[in-house]
Amino acid sequence: MRKLNFIMAIVLFASFIFSAQAQEYSQVGKLDKKMQNALNEQVNAELYAAYLYLSMAAYFESKSLVGAAHWMRLQAKEETEHAMKFFDYVHNRGDRVILTSIKAPPSNWESPLAVFQDAYLHEQKVTSMINRLAKLASQEEDAATHNFLQFFIEEQVEELASAKLVVDRLTMIGGSAPGLLMIDRQLGEREEE
Ligand SMILES: [Fe+2]
Ligand SMILES: [Fe+2]
Repeated sequence: MRKLNFIMAIVLFASFIFSAQAQEYSQVGKLDKKMQNALNEQVNAELYAAYLYLSMAAYFESKSLVGAAHWMRLQAKEETEHAMKFFDYVHNRGDRVILTSIKAPPSNWESPLAVFQDAYLHEQKVTSMINRLAKLASQEEDAATHNFLQFFIEEQVEELASAKLVVDRLTMIGGSAPGLLMIDRQLGEREEE
């Protein structure tokens, strides 16, 4: 009888451990529906950003500002990589991405300054989207997503700073052609990360 009680205790203890583990696993399992939709929207936003920067590259190439065009092409490539990071993350969590239509970006701007002002504005919008995602991850107590988003939180700080720098420099030179050519040369020196 004593032996039977001992076996029962072992079985109870093992089932307790197993259920605690199962609970733990379920917390890093599939994404919450709200979070899944938000990440899906972010894939679209990153691809739109790539599309927008590619359109800006086309604008600069049409104006023979090859340095700025190069800068925009690299930016477009980075945004595609961002989209793929979100894409892979959703799939690693056992869910799937649903691709939706990407709206057409603008194709014309008043000046090179207007282009970079638009880029800066767009980065501000993306930053608030990332911050909203991080807030949602905290509310849902989704530590894995919160951790995943840290890369993007840091990335947005850099992207805002680099767009702002170009806006400031273009503002500084006013409409000066030699100034513009100098900035264009600097933008052409951007290296792939
Ligand atoms: Fe991005
Ligand atoms: Fe960006």
